[in-house]
Amino acid sequence: MAYIKEEEINVIRQSADIVDIISSYLSVSKKGRNFVAVCPFHDDHSPSLVISQEKQIFNCFTCRTAGNVFRFVMLYENVDFVTAVKTVAEKIGYHLEIDASSNKTNDFEKELGLMDLAKKYFVNNINTSMGSDAKEYLAKRGITEDIIKEFEIGLSLPNKDNLYQILVNKNYSLEDIESLGLVNKYGLNVYDTFQNRIMIPITNLNGAVVGFTGRIFHQEDMAKYLNTKETKIFKKGHILFNYHNALRYIKEQRQVIIVEGNMDAIKVSASGIKNVIALMGVALSNEQIMVLKKLRVPIILMLDNDDAGLDATVKLGELLEKSGLEVLVVRLSGAKDPDEYIEAFGVPAFEEVIKHALKFLDFKLEYLKQNKNLHNMEDLIKYLKEVLESVKDKDDLTKEVIITKISKDYEVDASVLRKALGKENNSSSHLPPVEVQAPQKKSRYSLATDKILFGMMDNPAYISIYKNRLGYFKEKIERMLASEIVYYNNEHGSINVADFTNFIRDSKELYEKVNFLVSSNIERGITEEEFNNCIDIVLDEYLKSEIREIKEKIKNELDVNKKIALIAKLTELKKGSVENEGN
Ligand code: UTP
Ligand code: MN
Repeated sequence: MAYIKEEEINVIRQSADIVDIISSYLSVSKKGRNFVAVCPFHDDHSPSLVISQEKQIFNCFTCRTAGNVFRFVMLYENVDFVTAVKTVAEKIGYHLEIDASSNKTNDFEKELGLMDLAKKYFVNNINTSMGSDAKEYLAKRGITEDIIKEFEIGLSLPNKDNLYQILVNKNYSLEDIESLGLVNKYGLNVYDTFQNRIMIPITNLNGAVVGFTGRIFHQEDMAKYLNTKETKIFKKGHILFNYHNALRYIKEQRQVIIVEGNMDAIKVSASGIKNVIALMGVALSNEQIMVLKKLRVPIILMLDNDDAGLDATVKLGELLEKSGLEVLVVRLSGAKDPDEYIEAFGVPAFEEVIKHALKFLDFKLEYLKQNKNLHNMEDLIKYLKEVLESVKDKDDLTKEVIITKISKDYEVDASVLRKALGKENNSSSHLPPVEVQAPQKKSRYSLATDKILFGMMDNPAYISIYKNRLGYFKEKIERMLASEIVYYNNEHGSINVADFTNFIRDSKELYEKVNFLVSSNIERGITEEEFNNCIDIVLDEYLKSEIREIKEKIKNELDVNKKIALIAKLTELKKGSVENEGN
């Protein structure tokens, strides 16, 4: 991974106004001292996201997602830290010096540059007179000039090595060009991989072109689609076609539509439904599931209207539900795929089928009826068993609703079904769904601890109060965090939350703790009096726990002299505790 210097990260953080950056993604309005927006990280209906311009942090008071500007970009764009820093740098026009000692980065940038150049070449071709046939074909499929531009669709020429010659003239080596799948070598001959095809660029999650899919458009005896082979930068299992473009619409609409073919995604998007991505087939890898999981929105599976699409709907639906995602299903009828459906029935009809998407479970119950005659005893039993199998990992209420329903529909005693389900149920591998956390009820003591830590990150003056009056925490995370805060302040001569979170990001536990603290305390700062009160609460708690420990020891001590010493100590401690209570 590319390396960005710590100082540079801080400069970028300090030059970027979090309100501006978040405004580039969401509609933000001013409210009192802060700014607010509809939170993109949960199903929000009123603006719950609070942005503090003063502290340069954000916090959702409903789902408790919080952090500085980089964390916002990471979560919103689903990218890693370095990419988030780069994104922010770009938005504020900061020229980033990526560490040149890292060769990998250079290679990567070179490869992306090469692919980008190829894309530009293809786009250029389709806009010359040689592109008119291709454009005519696309127009017939309802793909307009605007969409051609939006998806940067291009054309590879019928020549043997036109692209190759251009790239060689730009001083790229044959090895590089070949390794990215743009040309093939046969002995001494080099051929462009893509010839005479409509070229659709495929981008990675960050929007950089990493591969192409080329479609024939003359009636020819050739594979309909040709895709870039697996390369260092094109890993099919990591790609979700149109992800980068669709992301903001997915967040806005809190829903993502998944189709099979790239053409389907293009067509659906062109019809104004922009929260769509394509799998380029029916397989779904773990990497892709991870990406979908992080989106935290319901998924609509809209695969092709054929047996492969149907089987994949069942399989992928189950996989996605297992990872805690909500799944809905659309099965198209009367057309082979979303593209043809829109051509045949129009956009309003298509929007209508999306509205009527089935919950995955409802779809599954219908699916299981296929190829069964439920008037036939054997088939019915098989069906009921399969239904029970598919609800065994569901919550109790769902199970009960299903049991009641099939008990009525098929006149089977509900208690028998319940019993059958109980037997199935012993190996539940149920994963908890990703849910908005309910705010936990915290003890006075842990609230005080949190406030002390937040206060220290927010105001260096409190750090010395902490050092003089408390100096440590009994809990490990809190203790580690406090000492990092003290260290950071010593090193930098000052501290603020928005920068400190960057510094701490490599330790997952501490990073999460800091963001949690931000989420709990952004609404108001902490006064010095409050800070001191919190320290009193913690000191008192430590005293009490020491008293408890000594009492325990006294109980177990057999040696009389030692016992007397312990009792004396206890009396001393109790005095302190009473004095404390007086404060
Ligand atoms: P389809 O035959 O359903 O194509 O193959 P499609 O998506 O409807 O494309 P159009 O509408 O004819 O243009 C489904 C998917 O299988 C892959 C492609 O990813 C395609 O989207 N495929 C198909 C290939 O990779 N090569 C082929 O020759 C055919
Ligand atoms: Mn199609």
